Amino acid sequence: MLRLENKVCFISGGASGLGEAMVHRFSEEGGQVYFGDIDAVRGEAVAKECGAIFLPLDVSDEEQWVAAIQRIEQDKGRLDVLVNNAGILGTGPLETIDIASWNRLFAINVTGVMLGCKHGGMLMQRNPGGATGSIINISSNAGILATASDCGYSATKGAVRLMTKSIAINFARRGMSIRCNSLHPGPTDTPIFKPWRTSEKVSTQLDDTLREMIPLGRLGQPREIANMALYLASDESSFSTGSEFVVDGGGTSALAGM
Ligand SMILES: NC(=O)c1ccc[n+]([C@@H]2O[C@H](COP(=O)([O-])OP(=O)(O)OC[C@H]3O[C@@H](n4cnc5c(N)ncnc54)[C@H](O)[C@@H]3O)[C@@H](O)[C@H]2O)c1
Repeated sequence: MLRLENKVCFISGGASGLGEAMVHRFSEEGGQVYFGDIDAVRGEAVAKECGAIFLPLDVSDEEQWVAAIQRIEQDKGRLDVLVNNAGILGTGPLETIDIASWNRLFAINVTGVMLGCKHGGMLMQRNPGGATGSIINISSNAGILATASDCGYSATKGAVRLMTKSIAINFARRGMSIRCNSLHPGPTDTPIFKPWRTSEKVSTQLDDTLREMIPLGRLGQPREIANMALYLASDESSFSTGSEFVVDGGGTSALAGM
């Protein structure tokens, strides 16, 4: 028996990095996988690779969420797993923040997650046979410990962490079996760092800095994060809700430099 057999899944930001790894991993385990992204070219290519279905989606736009969830309801009549994964890096240190970039960051990293929970959660409530499902919100280890260099990113990822708990207890107290957990990756080798890799030298320095933060001494691989998402998506995690799942090579366990 495959771990996601017969489960209808939706992953936001599935055209790259962690989301792309989840699209593949969930498909391998029998999930009927839909995914959304603003990058339609890459999205269609990923869909072709594994037979998942790509839907164009900007997570900050409520109408686009309504259209994506309607399409899944028309096709399958249910939603079992939702991963709110789409996200971007932040606006840099406090002194340099401009308000337009700050608002865009919150629109994607926070409002985008809320809209996914709202519209995906409403379809889960209508699932034939009762309100069931698993929502996985991708936060970060930066949603647990702060970085001085990126005030906005930490703020958005901290917001995702507590939003997740609020949504989890709301569903549970209304007697629904819709679980909601946050996943907190540490630095993982994905294109998210591309804007920072301005030269080979800078890129090597960045990797060295990231590695120093991680007791296991290396960056994570997307599949290692996708494996935790898979556990949370499957019925193996049936007693977990409102909880934080850290996958960061020990980064949040260590006192800096000790
Ligand atoms: N890579 C890491 O080290 C790391 C660590 C902790 C948390 N995360 C989080 O994991 C998630 C995925 O990051 P990644 O490393 O795979 O990044 P990535 O840049 O490789 O992929 C992000 C995807 O999201 C899409 N996206 C961006 N804005 C969007 C929008 N408005 N609507 C829909 N899709 C949009 C992009 O097109 C891209 O395909 C993010 O939430 C990120 O904050 C990443």
